Amino acid sequence: MNLRAATVRRKPVADLVAESDHGTLKRSLGLGQLTMLSIGATLGSGIFVVLGEAVPVAGPAVVVSFVLAGITALFSALSYAELAGMIPLSGSSYSYAYATLGELVAWVCGWCLILEYGVSVASVAVGWGQYLNELLRLAFGFAIPDALSQPPGSGGIVNVPAIVVVVLAMLLLLSGAKESARANAVMVAVKIVTLVLFCAIAFTAVKARNFTPFLPLGLAGMSAGAAKLFFSYIGFDAASTAGEEAKNPQRDLPRAILLSLGIVTVLYCLVAVAAVGALPWQQFDGQEAALSHVLSVVSGNPFWAGLLAVGAIVAISSVVLTVLYGQTRILFAMSRDGLVPPSLSKVDPKSGSPRINTLVVSGFVAVLAAFIPLGKLADATSIGTLFAFLLVNIAVLLLRRRQPDRPRSFRVPLSPVTPLLGVLCCGYMMFSLDGATWVVFGAWMAVGLLIYFGYGIRRSRLA
Ligand code: ALA
Repeated sequence: MNLRAATVRRKPVADLVAESDHGTLKRSLGLGQLTMLSIGATLGSGIFVVLGEAVPVAGPAVVVSFVLAGITALFSALSYAELAGMIPLSGSSYSYAYATLGELVAWVCGWCLILEYGVSVASVAVGWGQYLNELLRLAFGFAIPDALSQPPGSGGIVNVPAIVVVVLAMLLLLSGAKESARANAVMVAVKIVTLVLFCAIAFTAVKARNFTPFLPLGLAGMSAGAAKLFFSYIGFDAASTAGEEAKNPQRDLPRAILLSLGIVTVLYCLVAVAAVGALPWQQFDGQEAALSHVLSVVSGNPFWAGLLAVGAIVAISSVVLTVLYGQTRILFAMSRDGLVPPSLSKVDPKSGSPRINTLVVSGFVAVLAAFIPLGKLADATSIGTLFAFLLVNIAVLLLRRRQPDRPRSFRVPLSPVTPLLGVLCCGYMMFSLDGATWVVFGAWMAVGLLIYFGYGIRRSRLA
């Protein structure tokens, strides 16, 4: 086999579009559900947990950190919107890379998406367990013992709550995309209401003096906060994993991606202003459940903190559901292309969902969440995501050159400047992550390449 030719072979865009028209998944999702899918995957532990870690780093300027992280996400979101409207397949950036950068890069991109989706959902499931314990403590004065709520290495044996939330999400997904989308819509409504309620209460306690000095830790603190908060924007691309289940993908996917990012950014900034305005920034240090803490100090009533914990549990549940969904669809696309075993693209005729795929992905995620302390692996989520985003920006630039006349339902404004800024922002953020994260990323990539050269390169449908 000619290795070089094999690794750079590309899937023509026309074939990809034809494939999407004759897919086996059911087309059942409209604009509202696609937008909810992206909001569902985005709004979760980032705002409920990571905000509390970013305030001690950035001070009140955390509000600007949110805007900066949002702008970085926006450049890539515009590129996602252009490609999702053009190549409406379920594989998201993996499929876009297959059309532009060749099979090897597409595989690398798909392998990174497993970090963005599969590994992040495991760490988010761990966060769900922490909030569940917080709620049990507030409501009943007890918590699940560490042995059953922590993985080995963090003082426990197995993380049962993390398994529970993954299994619940799996059962919903097995019942079908439409049923999952309905449940997700309810959960998204609950989390938006929770955050609006938080703002309504916290704004009554906002004091101008809490905003001065605005930059206690300088510009460096503000940009370190932005790098940390980038995590809270991950997931806006989830609608692009539903390309083959959208009723009108060309029209709706770009809109859903940009709409969800806009809604989430506005909510994040309002919550950040309310939080740091209500409480001096120094008081966020060491607070795991930051928003609950703000409410209990401001209102003096544990009821509101408990209600917020309920909202956080629902919020994180919908992240688990939608991100798990995204992972199954990406693997579905990779399986159909022959790069992973064909059983992963078999669709159950009754529910219209890929059953074996859903069971395999859920099993993998449940084991990861139950037994592995995910600190470092969670950082690897960000680096994998940033690399996938970087490739999407490059894919836009390449397709504009190679196929300038192909119809696009959405065009990135000011191209090539905007996608180039997207590449630079993602590259800059990748290099601001620490050395240990790069080592994990390198090891992950090495395993991925072994699998590709041992399996995918020969089994590829293009071979
Ligand atoms: N953006 C997702 C969250 O914040 C990963 O939970």
